[in-house]
Amino acid sequence: LAPRALTFSVTKNLAARSPQERDEILANPGFGKFFTDHMVDICWSEQGGWHRPRVQPYGPISLDPAAAVLHYGQEIFEGMKAYRHADGSIWTFRPEANAARMQRSARRLALPELPTDYFIESIKQLVAVDADWVPMADGTCLYLRPFMFAKEAFLGVRPAHKVAYYVIASPAGSYFSGGVAPVSIWLSAEYSRAAHGGTGAAKTGGNYAASLLAQQEAYDNGCDQVLFLDSREGKYVEELGGMNVVLVYKDGTLVTPDSKSILEGITRDSILQLAEDRGHKVERRNVSIDEWREGQASGDIVEAFACGTAAVITPIGLVKSNDFEIGSADAVAGELTMSLRQELTDIQYGRIEDRHGWLTRL
Ligand code: PLP
Ligand code: COI
Repeated sequence: LAPRALTFSVTKNLAARSPQERDEILANPGFGKFFTDHMVDICWSEQGGWHRPRVQPYGPISLDPAAAVLHYGQEIFEGMKAYRHADGSIWTFRPEANAARMQRSARRLALPELPTDYFIESIKQLVAVDADWVPMADGTCLYLRPFMFAKEAFLGVRPAHKVAYYVIASPAGSYFSGGVAPVSIWLSAEYSRAAHGGTGAAKTGGNYAASLLAQQEAYDNGCDQVLFLDSREGKYVEELGGMNVVLVYKDGTLVTPDSKSILEGITRDSILQLAEDRGHKVERRNVSIDEWREGQASGDIVEAFACGTAAVITPIGLVKSNDFEIGSADAVAGELTMSLRQELTDIQYGRIEDRHGWLTRL
């Protein structure tokens, strides 16, 4: 069906938290623990297309126990942030890129594509009603989580004919409890995140479900995140459970894995652009774990970092496996890592010019 303008109905939450309760939460939000007073949903059906856009009180979703998502995992999501600038205005970062990625994820998971203007409008609607939930303090923001799932009650295995799209929002500080201190990464020898030809490039729950046992193994080994290698040869660096990886070479070149089974991060793309603007060479290519190990030992690789919406840019201090270690847990954060982090967050928080036109006012 041709996209038509969507008019959202708005039902205010009569049980919304008081300003005092909200301020207490915003003073120490952590990550992903607290949610705002409202949520957005839009329905989709094969006959009716996208319809019934709503802003409604945040609360439980009622689902038929036979809803396909509960059985076959037909689900996708996005992650983005709303930032409060010094003048009080609220902005988000490259939302068209998240909309486009959600459309690619939808195609892979045989879900309907939500048009970009609906996606952006859904974010605007939620932030308009929950604007007071966008925190002020340095390094904090409102994390936005759009998601879509198959809600048709049918146990046959085929793309669902009824789908729901929602957006929820969660005030956020740092994803890692240590802030921007270098993190330790566990190299998963046994488990792959995504197969060749699989769903690795889509932002779908199944990829995260597949990462959880390996993530637990990482915690058990004293690490913060898990690093996955390619599923065919177990040789090439792919990404972390929830972040992309970038290596910095002695000559200033930034290298990041090129793979059809990783999530194409918008943070990574933006950082690489900023590095190119400064005259750094950027290579998107296969990087083996041996190259990383040998490069770090010889001094050819001088910095490594993880990046993603939740993690922003976080230095990687140590990579640990059953057989070897790269780097050290008490490494200091790399200079380029930290200056790119500073530049990216300065753009996001409106402290320097947005020369690429990445910000959208909400
Ligand atoms: N890789 C995975 C598996 C992720 O979950 C994320 C986070 O969204 C990323 C990479 C980074 O993507 P982005 O920078 O768009 O948040
Ligand atoms: C994000 O960065 O938005 C993600 O989805 C990653 C997850 C680890 C929270």
